[in-house]
Amino acid sequence: MAKVNLSVVVLGLTLLLLAETWAQNPRKRLAPPKPPKNQCCDEVRSLKVQVANLTSILDEMSRKQETDLMSVVRQIMELDKQNRQQEARVTEAESKYSEINNRVEIMQLQTLQSATQTSSDAIYDCSSLYSKNYKISGEYKLPKDEFLGTPELSVFCDMETNGGGWTLIQRRKVGLTSFNRDWKAYKNGFGSIRGDFWLGNDNIFRLTRQPSVLRVELEDWEGETRYAEYGFFTVSNELNSYKLFLANYSGNAGDSLRYHNNTNFSTMNKDNDKCVDDCASLRKGGYWYNCCTDSNLNGVFHRYGQHITKKPDGINWYGWHGSNYSLKKVEMKIRPVDFQP
Ligand SMILES: *[C@@H]1O[C@H](CO)[C@@H](O)[C@H](O)[C@H]1NC(C)=O
Ligand SMILES: *[C@@H]1O[C@H](CO)[C@@H](O)[C@H](O)[C@H]1NC(C)=O
Ligand SMILES: *[C@@H]1O[C@H](CO)[C@@H](O)[C@H](O)[C@H]1NC(C)=O
Ligand SMILES: *[C@@H]1O[C@H](CO)[C@@H](O)[C@H](O)[C@H]1NC(C)=O
Ligand SMILES: *[C@@H]1O[C@H](CO)[C@@H](O)[C@H](O)[C@H]1NC(C)=O
Repeated sequence: MAKVNLSVVVLGLTLLLLAETWAQNPRKRLAPPKPPKNQCCDEVRSLKVQVANLTSILDEMSRKQETDLMSVVRQIMELDKQNRQQEARVTEAESKYSEINNRVEIMQLQTLQSATQTSSDAIYDCSSLYSKNYKISGEYKLPKDEFLGTPELSVFCDMETNGGGWTLIQRRKVGLTSFNRDWKAYKNGFGSIRGDFWLGNDNIFRLTRQPSVLRVELEDWEGETRYAEYGFFTVSNELNSYKLFLANYSGNAGDSLRYHNNTNFSTMNKDNDKCVDDCASLRKGGYWYNCCTDSNLNGVFHRYGQHITKKPDGINWYGWHGSNYSLKKVEMKIRPVDFQP
């Protein structure tokens, strides 16, 4: 805008100068024979008026230019705003993309094989996955690992509860899978990893060779939840009948696994309990039966309406609802003691 003003002034001055020159040398241009003296001055005056008029026209033009410039600036600002909105949309799209990408990576990882693994980046359980930044709960495939001597294993990871990194070893919630199974079934695991399952005593033994925490989560038919956590949990190998060892209870469900501490695992076809009775047959599951139960998390799934049972063969936890109440949902999950969320 300063440029416009300056050119106006320069133009005005040039015209004024031209007028003066013309006034001083009127004969050269107009070439009248001896013009009268006042004619010259009239001409000068009229030229001056014309200059003034031209100057005002120029002023007006420059004002018009200014308004045009202003409108151009406004348009640019508008475009800039639209551009910023566009950018925001791009950013949003990008974050959606990276989220999808993250999921894709997890899916790739789920099919990953152990080809180039060393002990330091071995994927051992859900806590190793969590440490590698996989923080979405769901099904993962742990790769076969020669170094650790582990086979490929499908697991369900809880990456949210109390810091995440949990590998589920058991779930009851659908009620269509029978848990009244034999030794071999409990040894290898059964059921569906997204539904009801037992991860398998061999797998639980392997996973708990590193000092582990056990978390038991319970839900009743009123939708209320409770939990029991054991700061230390391990099971022995098959030779030692998958004997249970646990310590350091905390939680709000009651300590209903303590009674099962230091007992062997029993199933319908292998009675290792501390009773004359055959607990596995009475309680209809596979468990660390003592004589017989203070909890029966692998018992019979009784549906709503039948969940108050006559016999204590349901999915029960005496410390919360007693021996005759079969729970709606159970999850048992483990993670290393030294896990840092
Ligand atoms: C100034 O210019 C306008 C438009 O060109 C014209 O109508 C007007 O008569 C002029 N005035 C003088 C004093 O020359
Ligand atoms: C139980 O907790 C105490 C106190 O934190 C600890 O000293 C002890 O080693 C824990 N026991 C086991 C078996 O982990
Ligand atoms: C547990 O099993 C082991 C071997 O598997 C056996 O030696 C031990 O006596 C059993 N303990 C009980 C309490 O049955
Ligand atoms: C389980 O038994 C061991 C001894 O074998 C004991 O140290 C531990 O505290 C017991 N756990 C519970 C929860 O009582
Ligand atoms: C469970 O049911 C049985 C049979 O009806 C009954 O004898 C027992 O007292 C009940 N137990 C509890 C804790 O309600």
